[in-house]
Amino acid sequence: MDIRIGLLGCGTVGAGVIDLMRKRSNKISDMTGMRPSITRVLVRDLTKERGIDLDGAMLTTNPDDILSDPDIRIVIETIGGIEPARSYILTALKAGKHVITANKDLIALHGSEIIETADAAGVDILYEAAVGGAIPLIRPLKESLTANDITDLLGIINGTTNYILTQMTETGADFSEALKEAQDLGYAEADPTSDVDGLDAARKLTILATIGFHAKVNLSEVEVSGIRSVTAADVKYASEIGCVIKLLASGTDRNGILSLRVSPTLVPKQHPLAGVSGSYNALFVRGDASGDLMFFGRGAGSLPTASSVVGDVIEALRNMRLNVSGRVSQMVMPHKTVDPDGGSALRHYLRMSVVDQPGVFAKIAGLCGDEGLSMETVLQKRASKGTAEVVIVTHEVKPEVIRRVVEAFRQMPSIKSIDCVMPVQPMTE
Ligand code: NAP
Ligand code: HSE
Repeated sequence: MDIRIGLLGCGTVGAGVIDLMRKRSNKISDMTGMRPSITRVLVRDLTKERGIDLDGAMLTTNPDDILSDPDIRIVIETIGGIEPARSYILTALKAGKHVITANKDLIALHGSEIIETADAAGVDILYEAAVGGAIPLIRPLKESLTANDITDLLGIINGTTNYILTQMTETGADFSEALKEAQDLGYAEADPTSDVDGLDAARKLTILATIGFHAKVNLSEVEVSGIRSVTAADVKYASEIGCVIKLLASGTDRNGILSLRVSPTLVPKQHPLAGVSGSYNALFVRGDASGDLMFFGRGAGSLPTASSVVGDVIEALRNMRLNVSGRVSQMVMPHKTVDPDGGSALRHYLRMSVVDQPGVFAKIAGLCGDEGLSMETVLQKRASKGTAEVVIVTHEVKPEVIRRVVEAFRQMPSIKSIDCVMPVQPMTE
């Protein structure tokens, strides 16, 4: 049976999907007994060079050519962002079309609405590519691991920032140079601020935590900080204390109390996540029955992401053939409380600029003592023109205490600025 597919968007991911669908055409037919083909492609600019061989007649700028065509049974959305992607997906689902999307922004913010709409229409909504590029994460959490209570999710789930931090560490590249390379390689979002400021990882963590912790998780419940404050000096100081800097996404469920954080983090060089470099992603998952699991692979890029999208197309085709489309529906999802103290106590790294005068260290130490914060290491790194750069590594302390101490530091006249604050990840037990 011939199955027509409409593709919304033909950028980095969309072009990869066309390429891979063509390469796997015979295999897909063998596996599913169906012969799918992408017959219409929605874009904004009909004249743009797309780096793939594409019949110009397939291209359209009119979404109705796909959404209102009853012969199109599957819609793949690779536009990105919230609107018009959300409206197009809802329209397609209501028209009885199966939808596959790589759009984490949309699933993180409007996942319930979209899943409920698919459920009501009895069609598939599949989004494996939304988190971790080529790495299977959604399906393992949703299907293979459902017998577990998942207690920990910890990983590197943004390829752009991992590429930037790796370049800064290994080649001494500066931030903007490394960002430009990540954009040229197709890893970054259309607006890379969501990568750099940690929002892309926070959206992905929202999706993973919702499925993994079986809870209604809101994006606003994730504590987010990005990598803009990380300098070459931090990379060097981290290395001096045996660490590399990674943008880590961390979620824990401790007896129904959640803690969710995305933050640049000092990771000991011996930690399994320290060696995850370039655009690679990795996710460590701890289940009460499964024990520890680690998922690793390419987290971004054209073909790696297309691998997950086309895998979803094959699942949708199989479901159509077996007449079981729409079978994974969202049942009851409890809301769990978020830990107001920000989760477990961790060591923290603070870099600050202080007035280079006698007695300043004593004042800093005094304030830390008043707040019950114990310092493990205090280093004066360099001084010029009356300003000294100071790096403190604390003993384990709750994130909430660190927030309070940083606020108090900001009020101290002898502290000119707090330039970088990062937790230090302990080794996995
Ligand atoms: P992209 O390269 O910017 O491509 C977006 C495509 O959508 C372009 O073809 C663009 O058309 C089209 N488009 C944008 N707005 C449109 C509109 N209003 N109407 C019609 N077409 C529109 O983006 P991408 O990197 O492929 O990412 C697509 C999605 O995949 C996003 O949700 C992203 O988060 C997700 N994702 C990306 C990666 C990755 O490595 N890049 C990995 C995983 C998931 P024109 O070409 O005509 O401008
Ligand atoms: N911009 C994203 C990243 C693409 O860099 O990880 C993959 O979701």
